[in-house]
Amino acid sequence: MGQRLGVNVDHVATLRQARRTVYPDPVTAAAMAELAGARQITIHLREDRRHIQDRDLRILRETVQTLLNLEMAATAEMVKIAYEYKPDVVTLVPERREELTTEGGLEVAGQRESIAKIIKNLKDGEIAVSLFIDPDLDQVRASHKVNADRVELHTGRYCEARNEKERARELARIVDAAKASAKLGMGVAAGHGLNYDNVQAIARIQEIDELNIGHAIVGRAVLVGFERAVREMLELMRDPG
Ligand code: PXP
Repeated sequence: MGQRLGVNVDHVATLRQARRTVYPDPVTAAAMAELAGARQITIHLREDRRHIQDRDLRILRETVQTLLNLEMAATAEMVKIAYEYKPDVVTLVPERREELTTEGGLEVAGQRESIAKIIKNLKDGEIAVSLFIDPDLDQVRASHKVNADRVELHTGRYCEARNEKERARELARIVDAAKASAKLGMGVAAGHGLNYDNVQAIARIQEIDELNIGHAIVGRAVLVGFERAVREMLELMRDPG
């Protein structure tokens, strides 16, 4: 059936939070994404609540008809929230307050014990766990050792490659990590920085069963919907009733 597309609606919430209004609502965007064929909705509830709010998670848990993937930091506060709302999957990501977006993968190899404990805790609550890692074989092996159900391979370096040689090298790392993860029996997702120009090489990797894409889709939606939005405003102005 091909790769599952998980649409990340964080940046719809970013736009809403810029004005602290109630629109655009990521819950509406999620429903529209599902109607268009997305098979997962992905959100990152950040510690500083800069975009997705607890209210979004609560409503999305009730309304998402496909899968709800909650990206979160590996903290006690977030584990408690995951237990309360029971997303289908939790993706553990590293998180720093000052970063613009998630910058690197989770350092699993260096903190196996604490991550294993959090994974066990979440799995005891029947929540599947994915680890967002760099496409690095040590991180893949460590993810398997801590009993992760899945990994999500960080595609940021591939997407940001400045020339073809660098891009080919980064792509090869993703292919190797995907193959190794699948061989160890883990599900394999990929994401970060994927857009309309660079997605196809990743979509061709057989071992990858899911892509999580946010910024490019939300950015595209603003532009492809812009003309219609202006027209609709003009119609109201021309026919004020
Ligand atoms: N996957 C993970 C784990 C992420 O942290 C993000 C960014 O929130 C994405 C996918 C989506 O990245 P982008 O917005 O660049 O498509």
